Amino acid sequence: MADIADSPLANQANKSLEHENVETGEPKMRARDVDVYYGQKKAIDSVDIDVYTEFVTAFIGPSGCGKSTFLRALNRMNDTIPSARVTGKIELDGEDIYASGMDVVQLRARVGMVFQKPNPFPKSIYDNIAYGPKIHGLADAKPDLDNIVEKSLRRAGLWDEVKDRLSDSGTALSGGQQQRLCIARAIAVDPEVILMDEPCSALDPIATAKIEELIDELRGRYGIVIVTHSMQQAARVSQRTAFFHLGNLVEYGHTSDIFTNPAEQRTQDYITGRYG
Ligand SMILES: Nc1ncnc2c1ncn2[C@@H]1O[C@H](COP(=O)(O)OP(=O)(O)OP(=O)(O)O)[C@@H](O)[C@H]1O
Ligand SMILES: [Mg+2]
Repeated sequence: MADIADSPLANQANKSLEHENVETGEPKMRARDVDVYYGQKKAIDSVDIDVYTEFVTAFIGPSGCGKSTFLRALNRMNDTIPSARVTGKIELDGEDIYASGMDVVQLRARVGMVFQKPNPFPKSIYDNIAYGPKIHGLADAKPDLDNIVEKSLRRAGLWDEVKDRLSDSGTALSGGQQQRLCIARAIAVDPEVILMDEPCSALDPIATAKIEELIDELRGRYGIVIVTHSMQQAARVSQRTAFFHLGNLVEYGHTSDIFTNPAEQRTQDYITGRYG
C-alpha cells in the first residue's frame, strides 16, 4: 500500500499523529450494537463506536451508506421521523440516551447539531444565540444573556464580524457567517457534544477553512463528530475516522491509519476513489 502511504491525503492525515498521544478519559459517547430501521428497512447494522472529547471524529462513506442516519441516532433526532426505529445502546457519560426517563429536549442541548445548510432563525443575530439559553433557563437577566451571546460568538470566531450589528437578521449574513452563527447557537446552550452533518458543503473554500480552524479550536472542549464527503477535510480536521458502507461500520480508527494503512479492502477502495 506504499502508493497510499505517500499520498497527499496520507501526509495530511499523518499530521493528526501529533494528537495521538493525548490522554483520553472515558468516551463521552458510546454506541453499542446500534441498528436503525426505516420501517422494515435496516439502514444501520450493528454499529459500535466511541466518541471522545479529546478527538474530532469524522464519518465518511459513499452517499446513502447511513452517515446522517447514525449521526441523528446520537441525539435522538431520528425520533422526529415516524418510520425510524433505533435499537441497541447509546450512552452519554454512561447514561442511556434512549432510556424512558431521558429528557429529549435537554439531550439535544447537550448533544447539539449543525446541518449541511445553515439554518439561522429569522431573528436578529443576538436572538439567534439568546433563544436557547432563555428557553433552557440558563439566563434571564439581560447582562447574563449579553455575556452568553458574546462568549458564544467569540468562541465561534464570529464576534468581530458581527459585534456592531447584533440586531441585524441572522439571515442577512453570508453563508459562512450563517454557519458560524449556527455553531455559536449550538455552543450557547453549553453542549457536551456537537454533531455536524456536512457543515461545509454549501460553503466556499475560504469559509470552509474558517470552519475547519474553528473545529480545531473547539476540539478538547466539546466532543465533535463531523460527517464529510471530503476526504481531505476528514484528514485535516479529525483524529478518528469511521468509514461506513451500506449501513455497516467497516472500519473505525486513527485517522492516520485509515488514510495510510487501512485494514479493510473496502476502505482502501473508497479512499483511493475507486467508488463513492
Ligand atoms: N427519512 C427516511 N425514510 C426512509 N429511508 C431513509 C430516510 N432517511 C434516509 N433513508 C435511507 O437510509 C439510508 C441511509 O441514508 P442516510 O441519509 O443516512 O445516508 P448518508 O450516508 O447520510 O448519505 P449522504 O452522503 O447522501 O448524505 C439510505 O438508503 C436512505 O435512502
Ligand atoms: Mg447524509
